[in-house]
Amino acid sequence: MTDVGQSRDLAFDTIDPRYLAFIRDYLGRYGLDSDRFCRPLPANDEMFFKAILPNYEHDVSIAGFKFVESTLRHFDAYRQIVDGALGGFANLGTVLDFASGWGRLTRVLEQTLKPSQIFVGDIYHDAVAWQEQTFGVTGVFSAPDPEEFDHTGRHDLVFVGSMFSHLPDGLFQRWLAKLHSFLGPRGVLAFSVHDQAILPPGHAMDPSGLTYLRFSESGSLDLEIYGMSYVTEAYVGAAIEAVSPGASWRRFPKGLYENQDLYVVGAPGVDLSGLKLASTPMGGLETATLLPTGESDYAGWALERTPGCEISRVSVHVDGRLALSVVPDRERPDVLAAFPNAANLPVGWRFRLQAPAGAVIRLHLESNSGLTGYAYAEAPAAAAMTYSGWSRRALRS
Ligand SMILES: C[S@@+](CC[C@H](N)C(=O)[O-])C[C@H]1O[C@@H](n2cnc3c(N)ncnc32)[C@H](O)[C@@H]1O
Repeated sequence: MTDVGQSRDLAFDTIDPRYLAFIRDYLGRYGLDSDRFCRPLPANDEMFFKAILPNYEHDVSIAGFKFVESTLRHFDAYRQIVDGALGGFANLGTVLDFASGWGRLTRVLEQTLKPSQIFVGDIYHDAVAWQEQTFGVTGVFSAPDPEEFDHTGRHDLVFVGSMFSHLPDGLFQRWLAKLHSFLGPRGVLAFSVHDQAILPPGHAMDPSGLTYLRFSESGSLDLEIYGMSYVTEAYVGAAIEAVSPGASWRRFPKGLYENQDLYVVGAPGVDLSGLKLASTPMGGLETATLLPTGESDYAGWALERTPGCEISRVSVHVDGRLALSVVPDRERPDVLAAFPNAANLPVGWRFRLQAPAGAVIRLHLESNSGLTGYAYAEAPAAAAMTYSGWSRRALRS
């Protein structure tokens, strides 16, 4: 059992109704059933209670929204791999979400695939058992050492979000070999890492190409097997080559979460040279000022992390209806501190709008990559509002 010291599950209907409205709207944009997605967050979910919640000053409403936002961005990456390398969800066999935690991705996958197609694995057996019980998926129970992990399945997609970003040298290669062995003939393995570009200040890259720092968000995993690791592309490339000489593989900088790189590796004979994967545009509202005219002046930021792409338009929807569009017209180098080595400079935008107090403002951050990011806020009731809660990520580094 994991015990993160949280005594109760978090029910979504206990969070601020304004955030719940954003969440339901956001899930609707992805065609998801929000009641089904918003099952309570189990008390032992470290990803939520030990990472997301403290990152947002223990504000459950903001953290709940950020949980949903991060899950949908996660799914954006997943969907691009399925569409680009595996012919779409309709042509998919079975998938394994390894290091699934308590299954934030499973909340989407179970609405996209049949439960019989979905395998989930984690070292936290209670998290795996909970997903089996809750979603009807098949659990595989992992171990600290890959040699002790007993699984013989073959899958079209093995996805590993944020586990290799925590592994030390040696275990990194052994887990790569193990997970690669679960690929079927057309299979694809995707895993995320922290690139050396985001190594915290004061630390140096180890000459091996992997720097391992002995801390993590986990309250219970041994630091011998799970800390914080930072890698070079050469290190990852050598590990892949050793596991599967000549394999086709791609690196997508900032391809998963806010700052992790996503590596995608094909089974022998699978060619990934044409795979495209963009990062979901990010951004948020920072200020809204009610003007004497009755209009409000809104301002904020946006960031396209995909190399060679840009946010071409920000369209503004009020209570679900398109109100106006603007083109970002200024650079925001100050925001870059939160996204070290991002491929593009963050941009700023500003617009004026008349909307009743409390109306839901939804921004569509439209990229020429084809992806759209979303940001939410409420129309102001007071003369000036600072949306630190809704967009704070870029305001702190
Ligand atoms: C940062 S969390 C990511 C969880 C999930 N992929 C997500 O994005 O929400 C890392 C996960 O790796 C799991 N993990 C660590 N070592 C593992 C191992 N040896 N086998 C399976 N899972 C492991 C942890 O239990 C934890 O759930």
